[in-house]
Amino acid sequence: MCGIVGYIGNKQALPILIGGLRRLEYRGYDSAGVAIIKIQDTDSKIQMIESVKAVGKIDMLADKVKDKKLDGTVGIAHTRWATHGGVIEQNAHPHFGCDGKLVIVHNGIIENYRELKEKMKDHKFVSETDTEVLAHLIESHYDGDLKLAVETALSHVRGTYGLVVMHADHPEELIAARLGSPLVIGMGENEHYIASDATPMLAYTKKVMFLEDGEIAEIKKDGVKIYNLKDELITKHIEEIEWNDEQAQKQGYENFMLKEIHDQPTVFEDAIRGRVNLEEGTAHLGGLNMTDDEMRSIERIVLIACGTASYAAMVGKYAFERLAGIPTEVDYASEFRYRDPIITDKTLVFAISQSGETADTLAAVREAKRKGAFVRGIVNVVGSTIARETDGGTYIHAGPELAVASTKAYTNMVAIMILYAIQFGRLKRVTLATGQRLITALLEIPEKMNKVLEQNDKIKDLAQKYKDCKDMMFLGRGINYPVALEGSLKLKEISYIHAEAYPGGEMKHGPIALLSPEFPTFAIMVKDQLYEKMRSNIEEVKARKSPIILLATEGDNCAKELAEDVIYVPDTMELLEPLLNTLPLQLFAYHTAVMLGRDVDRPRNLAKSVTVE
Ligand code: AGP
Repeated sequence: MCGIVGYIGNKQALPILIGGLRRLEYRGYDSAGVAIIKIQDTDSKIQMIESVKAVGKIDMLADKVKDKKLDGTVGIAHTRWATHGGVIEQNAHPHFGCDGKLVIVHNGIIENYRELKEKMKDHKFVSETDTEVLAHLIESHYDGDLKLAVETALSHVRGTYGLVVMHADHPEELIAARLGSPLVIGMGENEHYIASDATPMLAYTKKVMFLEDGEIAEIKKDGVKIYNLKDELITKHIEEIEWNDEQAQKQGYENFMLKEIHDQPTVFEDAIRGRVNLEEGTAHLGGLNMTDDEMRSIERIVLIACGTASYAAMVGKYAFERLAGIPTEVDYASEFRYRDPIITDKTLVFAISQSGETADTLAAVREAKRKGAFVRGIVNVVGSTIARETDGGTYIHAGPELAVASTKAYTNMVAIMILYAIQFGRLKRVTLATGQRLITALLEIPEKMNKVLEQNDKIKDLAQKYKDCKDMMFLGRGINYPVALEGSLKLKEISYIHAEAYPGGEMKHGPIALLSPEFPTFAIMVKDQLYEKMRSNIEEVKARKSPIILLATEGDNCAKELAEDVIYVPDTMELLEPLLNTLPLQLFAYHTAVMLGRDVDRPRNLAKSVTVE
């Protein structure tokens, strides 16, 4: 997720752009850059574009531009959350075409950028990014009409974009286009703004227009024209933003954790986009850096992670064993290297980490490499240490996760491991039909996630009912046991309520002694192969008069016989259940913590990335 800002008007653009980037820093800050059209001299009417880029936070860029005379009243700027290409200055936006007259900033993922780049062999590229390819593609179609060049170029593109294009020969306009990544136009008096969200413009105007997918905008000082996919001029409603700056960064949500919980359907789509092939019923994760024969030779998989990432890994274990038939174990990274792990050159070790900086996980990576395993990363932060020290892997594309309690990164980690399990499985024992069923079910997940999130208010009511409990038990069986663990961790780490999690069948071997009317149980009893077994376990819980919150499959009429409080989730394939079942537990923990007055984004004692062992 990157941040875009653009300005066209009568004011100096630079301070508006830098200030706007600062308000978008929450969208990512690997690197940043600005480009401004400088009028060389009013007589000759010659314009040129000057650009400055810097790695790191916006302050680095602000320092760099301080001594430069970047005068001009038209400009664009960008703060980067890397998805393609490392965190280096050459990869920072804005990106130019060959002649230095056309420049672009972009948020999104161009899936077919490699194919497009191949077809532009006469072009000289200086970065590793998909965005630069887009700049050259637009330039290759430019013949004096900037908007037409953008429209033509985008007709060849697969992927997502929120982009703004500027051209030295067209100082009177900015062209913007949106497909899958947000863009907002700020309406001023003889000046206009454009940005990834409203925050950069709130200091100047609260009148905005939201671009919809497929729309393209021609933004001039004296007016804005918006066209639809058929290139018809359309009229847009101008809205009044009520948010203040901070609210706008959270896009209207009370805090980052709630925003990130609701980000999950969108970022899940980003995780699987361009990585599944329904026709062949398989997945393809390019960064694995293993041949098919090497993949077939793997005799054991080890998933190393910490905290929430380790519970995602436990879901991955079920997927790899069931689909690929490869023995898979999950190890807390902090334990891995102290137990003398048995590693061979037929062992594949995945390090799973949102931050890519967790010291325990990094140490485990180094130990696994030392012992000769294939070591790959499943990481969110591009260019992070674990991403760089593993010999390949996959970015989960969850976007910046700013709340300390991990939510959207968890579901995207699960998504990537399911894709890997399908990819390995289709090389071995997964049939075309099964692969197609899995891919179809995956493509239905975002809509089903939204259905779960629509129960926010009902879950909030349950939190109100149980918020004063001192303890809570979470139960799940099979692939839902890791979900119970994650739900338990979410509750304890943000509400500070003591919570335990057990496999449903394990309860009777001791933990059931804890249950009482004051010790409620949150149980996952969805319609899968373990439904009847779980139902018996819940009868045992009920007999001890522990109040029960049940997570059940839509249409399960028996659930109400077992529990007064039932949350229903849509049905899906068993391996995909954690992608849906985790969301109610995230919301339950979130609302409980808010009602208890906790700082849900920054809980006590915790850090977003634990870089000490
Ligand atoms: C998640 O809610 C926790 N804050 C914590 O367990 C976290 O998952 C763990 O520290 C691992 O972090 P990583 O994914 O960045 O490696």
